[in-house]
Parts: sequence; C-alpha cells; structure tokens
Amino acid sequence: MENSGEMEKVVAVIMVGGPTKGTRFRPLSFNTPKPLFPLAGQPMVHHPISACKRIPNLAQIFLIGFYDEKEFALYVSSISNELRVPVRYLKEDKPHGSAGGLYHFRNLIMEDGPSHIFLLNCDVCCNFPLPDMLEAHKRYGGMGTMLVVKVSAESANQFGTLVSDPVTNELLHYTEKPETFVSDLINCGVYIFTPDIFSAIEDVSNDREDRVTANLRRLSSIDISTSTRTNIPTDFVRLDQDILSPLSGKKQLYTYETMDYWEQIKTPGISLKCSGLYLAQFRLTSPHLLASGDGTRSATVVGDVFVHPSAKVHPTAKIGPNVSISANVRVGPGVRLISCIILDDVELEDNAIVINSIVGWKSSLGRWSRVQADGDYNSKLGITILGESVVVEQEVVVVNSIVLPNKILNVSVQDEIIL
Ligand code: GDD
Repeated sequence: MENSGEMEKVVAVIMVGGPTKGTRFRPLSFNTPKPLFPLAGQPMVHHPISACKRIPNLAQIFLIGFYDEKEFALYVSSISNELRVPVRYLKEDKPHGSAGGLYHFRNLIMEDGPSHIFLLNCDVCCNFPLPDMLEAHKRYGGMGTMLVVKVSAESANQFGTLVSDPVTNELLHYTEKPETFVSDLINCGVYIFTPDIFSAIEDVSNDREDRVTANLRRLSSIDISTSTRTNIPTDFVRLDQDILSPLSGKKQLYTYETMDYWEQIKTPGISLKCSGLYLAQFRLTSPHLLASGDGTRSATVVGDVFVHPSAKVHPTAKIGPNVSISANVRVGPGVRLISCIILDDVELEDNAIVINSIVGWKSSLGRWSRVQADGDYNSKLGITILGESVVVEQEVVVVNSIVLPNKILNVSVQDEIIL
C-alpha cells in the first residue's frame, strides 16, 4: 500500500492565455508575453513553475496557451534543464477557454497516467501551497479542490466568489464576478483535480452540442447556413461558469483556504507589488537570489533586491527595498532606486532617481533625472511606467505617468499618458 502512494504520478498545467488577453498589461506586453514579464527577476510563470517542483511525484509541467511556440521555446528548454522536470508548451490553435484548453490536450496530459492534475492560472501571485492542497484534496475525496482566499468585500466582485461549508469545506455555491455581493471568499485560480475533470468538461461540450442540434432541428424551416453552425463554439468551455458553478453543492468540489498573501496580476501596478512579495519570499526560500551590498566594495543595498549577474551597478549607488534589476542594466554613480523594476539593457546615468516605477527595456535616464510615482498600485497612474526604448533627458522629472515606447522626454511631465 505504501508503495502504491509513491507510484502515483501528478502533472501540473499552467494556463498562460495568449496575445489577445492581458491587454490591461500594456505597454509592457507589447513585445513580451505577459507570462514572461519578470517579477523579482524571474518570468511571471517561473514562480508557479518552481512551486510545482515541491509536488511529490511530479511527472511533467505543461504550459497551455495560444501564443506562438517561439515565444516560449527558450524559457521552456532552460527551465526544464534547471528543474530536471519536463516542461512543455502546448499551443492551442484558438482560445478554448480555461477548461476547454485543458480538455483539448487531454491525451498528452494523461500520457503518464497521473492520478492528479494541478491547474494554475499564470497571472496569480501567492506562495502556491500545492503539497498541502494535495493532502487536503485526498482527505476530501472529491473531484476537485480549489485554493480560496478572503478579500475585502469591495473587491470581491472582480473574482469568482463562493460559499463553502465551514465544516466539510465543500464548495456549496459559486458565482463568477457577481454584480451584487455574494461573499468575500474568492477563487484564487489554483486547483487540483482527479482525471474525472475531463468527463465533466466533456459533458458540458456534449450538452451544448445536443442543444445546438435541437435548435437546428427546431429552426429547420428557416435557412440555416453552415457558417451559423460552425460559429457556435461547442469546444469553448470556461472552468468557472461552466464547471464550478453547476457542480457546486454536489459533493464534488472542495475548497482549501490560504491565510497567506494572494494577488491577481492584471496591471503593471500590481506586478510591481507582486515583485516585492516574491522578493520577500526569496528571503525564506532562495536567499542566494537576493543581492547583498556592504556599501564599500559594492552598492548599498536596502531590503530585498534582485540584481541580474550581468548588470553593472556602481558602488556609490543605493538600491532597495523592492528593486529588481534585469540583464545588462547599467546603474551609474549616485543613482537611487526604490520600489522599481528595471528591465533589460536600461542605462541609468549619474544621480538618476527611480521610485515606484517600471523602466522598460533599452530605456535611458539622463543625469539627475527623476522617474517616480506615489506608489498606489491599484490606480492607473499610481506607478510610473516607461515603455521600451524611452529616453528621459538629463534633469527631466516624470511623475505618475505612463510613457509609450520610443518617446524622448525633454520636458518634465506629471499625471500624463504620453502616446
Ligand atoms: N490557454 C488558455 N486558453 N488560457 C486561457 C484561456 C484560453 O482560452 N482563457 C483564459 N485563459 C487563462 C488566462 O491566461 C488566465 O491565466 C486564466 O486562464 C484565467 O483567465 P480568465 O478566464 O480570463 O479569468 P480571470 O483571470 O478574469 O479570472 C479567473 O481567475 C481569478 C483568479 O485570478 C477566474 O477563475 C476567477 O474566478 C478567479 O477569481
């Protein structure tokens, strides 16, 4: 019996979406798929992937999306080598919805005969308590267990909201993004299922197909073209509305509540907050990834900071807390960085200051320039964002603004979107 537990294989699937999703992430998603945008110096999708490594008997990790394969090829091969677990990118020819995408690749997902399948949204930030969820899921004995968290009553309607049994943790009621208040307990976008999930998705598709056929029969006197027929996407299945809502209260779905941090990463502002949360987590899980400075031989480091090994930081610069510096960045003398993400190939000249901002790839900040914001992660101009290849000339001050790629700023701006 002990052995059979050890033999049970588990796979993980991460839904990464595609270029038509993640539009609120612009201008940072113009050239880089949102799942590869760096948080704490690692691609967004890297954080759930490395959490999967802690799952016992993990056989494979699949990323499912409708981005071009090329976009993920490099990352997928390097992370497979690093984790020593096969990570594969599976491309949908079109969006199938969050459950339809999973179903579309059921044969590949089931090829190792896994007993359980983790399903994760790539745009959530948390500490992914996956082994604990697996344990809880086995105790509950249902088809699926969903990670849930309490949020403020005002924000709850942006998510899937739910009611669960306080004793058994059974999911009793589920409503996706309700118009009126239902509950402050919400769906975190992290699930574990038994392979029965595939039959549940198939049932939804079949039901829909039956309804379409019935409708076509009913309307047979009217001329229905083939194009009308093919326009109805019977293979488009949403996990929330089509599976979680109808199956709640049927002793098939259960909840596992996290008391730890959880965020949904839809906007650049929240990505800066999440970069800080992941840096703080590195302090516990991978302190070797954090920079340490002693102020003499290297720059002064305050709090949690990531510096890519290829970046060059002048010893008189002061950086942190919550700073993440990507590849080939050059940080000049006297530069001060607080709460920011500096992307690849950026040049920061002497005494430039960056606070509560994201500085896009290949941008440059002249001497004594300032790029800053109030740091309200939830408001549109609460952090300053410079798109790719923006030039901020010397002594120019940019406050609470979004600057689209390839702009040259030679005068100061505040509370503006520079198109
Ligand atoms: N591959 C693929 N194909 N991925 C998809 C598709 C698709 O057709 N549609 C959505 N996704 C991915 C997204 O990239 C994201 O990672 C995840 O599936 C869920 O996206 P949405 O369906 O757009 O839902 P949402 O993000 O607005 O809300 C969901 O997540 C919240 C937690 O972050 C819901 O499940 C909410 O209930 C939940 O609170």
